[in-house]
Amino acid sequence: MTDAADRTGPAPVMQHVNGALRRVPPSLLYVGGAAWGGWLFWLAATGGLGVEPIEALEHRYGKLALQLIVAGLAVTPLRQWAGLNLIPFRRAIGVLAFGYVLAHFLVWAVLDVQTLSAIWADIVKRPYVTIGMVGFATLIPLALTSNNRAIRRLGPVRWRHLHKLAYPAAVLGAVHYVWLAKGLQFEPLFYLGAILGLLALRLVPRKVRVAG
Ligand code: HEM
Repeated sequence: MTDAADRTGPAPVMQHVNGALRRVPPSLLYVGGAAWGGWLFWLAATGGLGVEPIEALEHRYGKLALQLIVAGLAVTPLRQWAGLNLIPFRRAIGVLAFGYVLAHFLVWAVLDVQTLSAIWADIVKRPYVTIGMVGFATLIPLALTSNNRAIRRLGPVRWRHLHKLAYPAAVLGAVHYVWLAKGLQFEPLFYLGAILGLLALRLVPRKVRVAG
């Protein structure tokens, strides 16, 4: 434990919240996240997502992926600055984020673009797709090593280094969104700002955090 919240302990309210959260099994997150993805697919298949269901599904999965990436990046600052302990849920958040990026990619590739040559053409010709693809590729080693066996095999130091790949992946995901949006729109810039802000918080020297 490294900061004021850790040394003096979280505020009493936060201790209650953390106590309540400890009783929530992280598996609930996997079940809820997967069920939500399946529900959206069902809606798309049955006309519940409007007249362009494939596009709508692709967008919903992409947005959820980005939101989960932001949530994953917020776990450490929330603990360090507010004493809120979401660490037990971090792996589930990360794995779900990857699942949604994968689903987003598959809807695009299999249901939308459909042919290998067109998929390849889009990846090399459209910069925002290229950036999304690099972000997706960056997340693959993280997803493959998000299990206890990988942590044991790599050792905690190498594992932690490897998982810093989440930072460029998050930035690439947000830049992908900013790029594909027509003109400068608030929402994509908001996600990019949130990600850069959460990453910047990690650079705040420990002493300032202790004083804060
Ligand atoms: C870290 C990885 C990624 C993240 C976080 C992400 C996120 C997003 C988001 C938030 C949107 C906009 C959704 C909306 O407008 O509501 C989007 C759209 C899109 N993404 Fe991704 N994406 C990622 C990777 C990819 C990959 C790998 C591909 C394909 C190779 C891809 C292709 C697309 C396409 C085609 C659109 C829709 C563009 C349009 O409608 O004009 N994305 N993505």
